[in-house]
Amino acid sequence: MKNKKQLSEEEKAEPESYYFELQASWGLTKHMGGLEATRKLIEACHIDKDSYVLDVGCGVGITACYLAKEYGCKVVGVDLSEMMVKRSNERAKRKGVDGRVEFRVADAQNLPFKDGIFDAAISESVNAFMKDKQKAVSEYVRVIRPGGYMGFNEATWVETPPSELVEYLSRGLGGAEFLTPDGWKSLLESAGLTDIVARSYKTGAWRQWASEVRQMNPRDYLGAWGKFLSLCFKSPAARKWVKEISIPPRSVFRIFKYFGYGLYVGRK
Ligand SMILES: C[S@@+](CC[C@H](N)C(=O)[O-])C[C@H]1O[C@@H](n2cnc3c(N)ncnc32)[C@H](O)[C@@H]1O
Repeated sequence: MKNKKQLSEEEKAEPESYYFELQASWGLTKHMGGLEATRKLIEACHIDKDSYVLDVGCGVGITACYLAKEYGCKVVGVDLSEMMVKRSNERAKRKGVDGRVEFRVADAQNLPFKDGIFDAAISESVNAFMKDKQKAVSEYVRVIRPGGYMGFNEATWVETPPSELVEYLSRGLGGAEFLTPDGWKSLLESAGLTDIVARSYKTGAWRQWASEVRQMNPRDYLGAWGKFLSLCFKSPAARKWVKEISIPPRSVFRIFKYFGYGLYVGRK
């Protein structure tokens, strides 16, 4: 048996520190509500072909590339993880949109952009991971022009959850802290936005799964899971994470009684 000193860095890491690196290496990031939620967010932020859009916490670049391809707009995606940015660039090339979308490494809480340069700033399933959520929202607002829109799609407690569920999801999902609809909405109000729209939705395990498959397309989705299985085979960190999050299937279905998502949009 190895002692602590002999363990690799990967084996020693806490689940939250490698959660996103695992996602990047298997090439799959996701958010609640999948493509339907993304479309609603795009519409609520009034994004069209002339918009210049910032996608904060872009993950493997699915929404940024979708915007560039389907709406024809110019997009900048930022993510804290270098590996995510690499995956996003690969995706943009594969999708033939690398001329309209660019990616860079940046922290949502300290964006490397001048004030007022974007028409819209969006983020999907990112703010739950922020240490300082209000600072992040203030940054999104700072970089959009007056009259521009800021909107996010976030996992939301649609019913008061048991404390073990809060603790389990935070541990399994990179230390995330999820809010109620009022909690998320108040971030927009405190940032001085107007015309605020806040809508929350319930979903279910099957519906969530189907929406993820649709968002990625079935071939990419299966490929990502194939990569994940091979990663589990090779990487102790991946196995450790899977062990941490494993619960009986019945409990997975029960999570969705409390755990839904919401769209939160405001105008500068
Ligand atoms: C759950 S994933 C969602 C990715 C993508 N928006 C999607 O819907 O597929 C969260 C993403 O936020 C990124 N992230 C976490 N903290 C961040 C921060 N402070 N600044 C920028 N990105 C961050 C992670 O690296 C990860 O790619």
